[in-house]
This record gives sequence, structure tokens and C-alpha cells, in this order.
Amino acid sequence: MAPGRNLEALGKNTEDPPEPAGESPGREVRVTPVELRRVLGSPEAVSVLRWLAARRRHRIATAGTDGEPDVVERFTYCEPVDAEELRAEISDPRLQALVDCGAAVVIDGWAVALLSLRYLRGVAIAYPQAQRPDGNEVYLGTGGFWLMQLAFRYGSPGDTAADLATGTGLVAVALSARYDRVVAVDLLPEAVRTARLTLDINASQITSTGAAVMDVAAGLRDGVFDLVVANPPWVPDAIGTDGENQTVYAAGGPTGMELPARFIEEAGRLLAPGGTAIILVLDGTWDDGRRPLDEQCDLLRDRGFEIVDVVPAPPAVWGEAATKRLTEYAPNCTAGSVVALVFRRPC
Ligand SMILES: C[S@@+](CC[C@H](N)C(=O)[O-])C[C@H]1O[C@@H](n2cnc3c(N)ncnc32)[C@H](O)[C@@H]1O
Repeated sequence: MAPGRNLEALGKNTEDPPEPAGESPGREVRVTPVELRRVLGSPEAVSVLRWLAARRRHRIATAGTDGEPDVVERFTYCEPVDAEELRAEISDPRLQALVDCGAAVVIDGWAVALLSLRYLRGVAIAYPQAQRPDGNEVYLGTGGFWLMQLAFRYGSPGDTAADLATGTGLVAVALSARYDRVVAVDLLPEAVRTARLTLDINASQITSTGAAVMDVAAGLRDGVFDLVVANPPWVPDAIGTDGENQTVYAAGGPTGMELPARFIEEAGRLLAPGGTAIILVLDGTWDDGRRPLDEQCDLLRDRGFEIVDVVPAPPAVWGEAATKRLTEYAPNCTAGSVVALVFRRPC
């Protein structure tokens, strides 16, 4: 991820401090991107990841998050660890299952995981630590965590929820604690694979979850969802700086509202009577007087939806640095910040 290309910092809000892949004092190991297709194709490896997630959850429940990470935890943060020490803790077959599908490597007596396990408020996220910098990276950042909190605050009761533009599947997992059926969708196959893995290692006994590749919500049924959430790409094109193209997870269109507007429209189509949608967007004011968010709210009202709230993002999602970058790279935008648009289809 090139610094400065996007507005949000990555991975700053996990309970475990994210560590750089493959580095420890005096030791550097080159890692290659993990192939999630191979990991998902190995029931043994998925079961080891589930076991590691459960182990970590148990340790947090019994000892909290303050203590020094042990060898297993350091391994799940993608630090190189002594392979023998690790085997003694997790067993040789477990380590071998990860190595066989390319989720870990053992070199010169060092074991390195290529898939990190992050933990966020009880949710374990399987995150491809090393990714090809080709614009199709899987996103993990503060927006998802905020969306998770908003879903609990505003989510209508019911049994069916959709997480559009799911990324790692983090929010979908959180929703599975409340809704009986949860679908997680994304345009990027690698994001959907990450979400599948994340849903799998947090598997609930009672919720039916699924993840699929689709453009916005194409293929999901009209009028059956009690809750629809999305943190779509909302970064204005001008922020893709230095002639570089933006990443798929960030590029929201010229004002940053063009792509989110499609999510807003589709979310409205999916909602059941009484259902609620929560969509994160950039609320920008442009020097020609346009306020794309106001235009979207007017369109929603015209279609009979109720605007429940427009919630300003907390500093972890939209801070001073983001405002500075917006005014620097998009000078036609006179003001802007991220908000959550919450709207409801009347019963
Ligand atoms: C900012 S990330 C949010 C990921 C996740 N919801 C979270 O908050 O952690 C935006 C996501 O939108 C996805 N995306 C981009 N264009 C899309 C489209 N046309 N349809 C569906 N998903 C899309 C990206 O692949 C990325 O996963």
C-alpha cells in the first residue's frame, strides 16, 4: 500500500498490534503473497486456523490482552518464530497443514505465517499479510470497525442482513451474532475468499452465512433484508496521487460519491419494510456548490425512505490528516469528512 494514496490508515485498530510481515530483530524473511484459494481448499488448514482463533479467544478471555504474546501469537502476527518451539505448542501436523497449502513457510528452522490472524472485539480476521501491489488489495482498516459498531446501534431487528463491499468479512461476522442469515459480497474475488475464511474460522452454530463475488448487490433479492451495511470506496479520484491509479477498495469516483451512490440505491432496493441501511460515504462540499450527499438524501426521500441519521465519523476513521490530504489533493472540495448515512424503508 503506497503511503499517501488513500485517506485511511490501515490496520490501526486491532486488539493485537499488527507486526510487519517477516521481520524480527536481526532476521528478515522474504514472503510471497498467500494463495487463499489453496488455503480454502485445505480443510486441515482451515481447521488449524479455526483452532488458532479459538485458542487466542480463550487466552483473551482468561488473561486479557495485556500480557506478552507467546510463540503462537507471534506466529499469527506473521513474525518469524523458532519452528521447534512452535511445533511444541501447536503440534507438527498443524504446522504442516499450514505449510502444505502455502499459508506458512519453514526456512532454516524459522516458521513464518503468510496469513495473519487479527482480533477485533472477539472477531478473528484471517488477513493476507503480503499482497501484490496491483490495486486489488484486500482492505482492512478503521472504517469496518466503526461500521460494526453502527450496525449494533442502528440495526433493525430481523433475521436477514447483507454486508456489501465486505472486504475481510469482519462486519459480516459481527452481524452473524444477531442475524440468522448473513450474506457478504464484494467485487474482488480475493476479498470474497478472505471473507469466506474469516466467516469460516468464526463459524457460528446458528447463523447461515455466505460470501459471493458481485458488483455492488447485483443478484441479491429485492425487499428481503432487515439490515444492509456497506463501507464502499468513497475516496475522490483526485486523491489517487502522483499519477497512480487508486486501489479498488478506495476509488469512489470524481467526487467520491459516484460509486457509493450505487450502493445507496441498491441498499434501498434490498431493504424489507422496516429495514435499515447504513452506508459510509464522504460528505463533501464542492466549489460549484454541489453537495452530493444532500442530493442522495433528496433522492432517497423521493423514493419514500426515511433518513434516520447522518453520523460523523470518529477521529480514528476521519482525522485531521485526512482533512489535510483532501484539501491538498482535491482543492475543488471546499469541505469534506466521512459520515454514516442511516436510512430506513418505512413499514
Ligand atoms: C473500504 S473497503 C471496505 C471493506 C470492508 N467493508 C471494511 O469496512 O473493512 C471497500 C470494499 O469495496 C469493494 N468494492 C469496490 N468496488 C466494488 C463494487 N463495484 N462492488 C462491490 N464491492 C466493491 C472493495 O473490493 C473493498 O473490499
